[in-house]
Amino acid sequence: MNKITYDDMLKKLEGCGQTQLLRYYDELDAKQKCALLCQIADTDFSVVRAGKEEAERGVISPIPVTELDDIKANRDHFINAGLEEIRAGKVGAVLLAGGMGTRLGSDAPKGVYNVGITRELYIFECLINNLMDVVRLAGCPIHLFIMTSDKNHEATVAFLKEKNFFGYDENFVHFFMQEMAPASDYNGKVYLEEKWKISTSPNGNGGWYSSMAKWGMLDIVKTNGIEWLNVFAVDNVLQRIADPVFIGATKVMGCSVGSKVIKKASPDEKVGVMCLEDGRPSIVEYYELTDEMRSAKTKDGKLAYNFGVILNYLFHVPELNKIMDAQLPLHVVEKKIPCLDENGDKVEPDSPNGYKFESLILDMIHLLDGCMVFEVVREKEFAPIKNKTGVDSVESARELLKKNGVEL
Ligand code: UTP
Repeated sequence: MNKITYDDMLKKLEGCGQTQLLRYYDELDAKQKCALLCQIADTDFSVVRAGKEEAERGVISPIPVTELDDIKANRDHFINAGLEEIRAGKVGAVLLAGGMGTRLGSDAPKGVYNVGITRELYIFECLINNLMDVVRLAGCPIHLFIMTSDKNHEATVAFLKEKNFFGYDENFVHFFMQEMAPASDYNGKVYLEEKWKISTSPNGNGGWYSSMAKWGMLDIVKTNGIEWLNVFAVDNVLQRIADPVFIGATKVMGCSVGSKVIKKASPDEKVGVMCLEDGRPSIVEYYELTDEMRSAKTKDGKLAYNFGVILNYLFHVPELNKIMDAQLPLHVVEKKIPCLDENGDKVEPDSPNGYKFESLILDMIHLLDGCMVFEVVREKEFAPIKNKTGVDSVESARELLKKNGVEL
């Protein structure tokens, strides 16, 4: 490997207008200088933008949804097809736990949050319990891949080890880490978090599959003959994971991807909506929905864009391999970024002070042919924990857990 020199790094930063990152270089000791130069060498500054640019959208139209009645009518067929895949070892689960969970306001990984009241019940524990239901039903183990980030990897691994993986067979749990991206002020100037450290943030959940590849996870996928990956978010404590009905339905219908959806509670609910974009499956974020789309009706008088995604997708591995190197759109998100002020003192801002740059898993759906849009009962499968109180919070999730018979 070539030696990383100050001059080369200065040249790299001049090329992308980020020389402020070397402002304190002369004050650093040898180890810190080395750490900063290495981080500059490793960082891709091309993601940094000085503002939000909305990507042009194609022509949006409603997408056919497999609704609850259709699923009920074919339940036995679907469940048998799904169990067959699971028992043949063809299904893996991928937990996306690399996010910062800033809205919940805890520095610890979101999964270690205790939602119990009279007893301990952690978010990770709820998810593992849900997956174990299927392991028991199928009578065979399921590989669980867990994505963490630089900010929470050690804490996540240590917690799950300490809790003995809540009874899950450790040999079937595999950790991998996602990439980080630089975070900047509103003018696109990347912040320093320390005089020797660039401010970074996890680069969104869109890079999960390429991160799996980088961490050697695809060897496990290949060696074990895993053909389906059920990817899910850390924060929905009620979701069914490796759900045989969902897997069976996606397989039977010959789709390369499946997306669980719920009927929206109101046209304004803040969930991404499934649709077709230029004839291909796609997801429109809630803030991109126009008034016209919110009120649009189908021929039979139903709301045309009424199904929201819950971040529970099933991907067919052969198709994923084909899109692995595809470029996903970049999302620019306003955020509170710990940084140094003009005097070089550390600041923990109370309100957003710049941008982080993310790619999102929902944009992968548009790259794939044929999406099984699969309705689930929201009261039974949707209890996201984004905030401490109010909508999508610890409070609302506790109510829903109780309604579903989970002792708190
Ligand atoms: P969210 O959109 O809720 O983001 O993530 P977040 O960063 O966790 O939370 P806030 O916005 O700061 O409060 C949805 C899912 O995607 C994962 C999260 O862990 C969660 O399961 N995620 C998000 C990642 O794995 N990596 C990321 O970079 C971002």
